[in-house]
Amino acid sequence: MRARLVVLVSGAGTNLQALIDACADPDYGAEVVAVGADRGDIEGLARAERAGIATFVRRVDDFAERQQWDRALGAAVADFEPQVVVLAGFMKLVSPDFLARFLTLNTHPALCPSFPGMHGPRDAIDYGVKVSGATLFVVDGGVDTGPIVAQVPVLVADDDDAESLHERIKSVERQMLVDAVGRIARDGIEITGRRVRVGGSAG
Ligand code: GAR
Repeated sequence: MRARLVVLVSGAGTNLQALIDACADPDYGAEVVAVGADRGDIEGLARAERAGIATFVRRVDDFAERQQWDRALGAAVADFEPQVVVLAGFMKLVSPDFLARFLTLNTHPALCPSFPGMHGPRDAIDYGVKVSGATLFVVDGGVDTGPIVAQVPVLVADDDDAESLHERIKSVERQMLVDAVGRIARDGIEITGRRVRVGGSAG
């Protein structure tokens, strides 16, 4: 049985594409059963459509209250009965109710707990760090605060700007995501407080 993944995106979807490509190998252990977005007309959705994967869009502005949007998003995700939800450049926070229903992973372009939020690479450049990177974590109620599943470092070059650093981070972030999600699909995940172990005890 392959693990069922629902991937949520808001933009280019290169992390999604890496997962779609990995899932083409039956030994990978997972399949992307649906891709959801908070906006239409994005490359992330087009990538899913080209791969023949079901898509759905739930826009915050189409609902009177944020909570209604969150419930609608949760219902759309639940229809596909995922074992894991992956936020891959999904630029919205989901509610505790959503997180109670689904094991939800998020990928962030910085080494958490540094530089949470929407502008990880820019904030790392502005701070002047010499090493940044990418983090895969289990989403909790905070902004990029959840238990860490995997991290990968990236050296910051003297002439980097936010865009060049983000592009280099993304090239290793995709591999980190593919490796970790595949291991979780095949071997399981154990979360003990803040400690995460893939395929074994976190003790
Ligand atoms: C990724 O670098 C992801 O970590 C980041 O958006 C990018 C999406 O790229 N997410 C965040 O900054 C969330 N705080 P993609 O659409 O090409 O996969």
